[in-house]
Amino acid sequence: MGRLRIGVLASGRGSNFQSIAESIQRGEIDAEIAILVCNVPGASAIERAKTLGVPYVVIDHTKFGTDREAFEADVVGILRKHDVGLVVLAGFMRLLTPFFLRQFPNRILNIHPSLLPAFPGTHGVRDAVNHGAKVSGLTVHFVDESLDGGPIVLQKAVPVRDDDTEETLAARILEWEHKMYPLAVKLFAEGRLTVEGRRVKINWDGLQPLPAP
Ligand code: GAR
Repeated sequence: MGRLRIGVLASGRGSNFQSIAESIQRGEIDAEIAILVCNVPGASAIERAKTLGVPYVVIDHTKFGTDREAFEADVVGILRKHDVGLVVLAGFMRLLTPFFLRQFPNRILNIHPSLLPAFPGTHGVRDAVNHGAKVSGLTVHFVDESLDGGPIVLQKAVPVRDDDTEETLAARILEWEHKMYPLAVKLFAEGRLTVEGRRVKINWDGLQPLPAP
């Protein structure tokens, strides 16, 4: 098997994209980011791609109106052209249709800032704070047709403090996102993940096991 080629999809800030790119540059992950696809012109993920020397393309979804599949067909075309074997969603704020998901079965990862299945959706951190949760965190999971509901790869619990706001909790969760997402990509790249129904088995042989959550 050749070196894994990754396509990253991002819509905004792009800090998770950067953490994965830098982990690759440090030699921690044997893979290459073949392309960053950004659906929002002017998003800072694009500036990060330039700085990191990662090839990028902007596909503005608003140009496609309500035709989600036409937008996705363009994205799939780009990913295929770059021979992508893993799609990494990094703050990509568009729901993907079954058309897209069928192209990359068990080959799409997402990160979500809550302990799924708690607090899915666009405001995972805000919803946890407003609910009064004492513990939240993050989840890296494979993407399927459910909303934030695919098989879970890694989770990390982060305590919620009494004086936390959405911003302060999001910042502490993000620090862990930048460690856990590169780790999940590494596990995938090394063929250590086996999906059995909803469960993802991880082969940790020779690796430092995860600290208790
Ligand atoms: C991250 O916190 C990620 O968990 C979240 O968006 C942020 C993107 O940050 N994703 C979701 O809420 C998905 N439902 P980034 O653009 O700096 O990587």
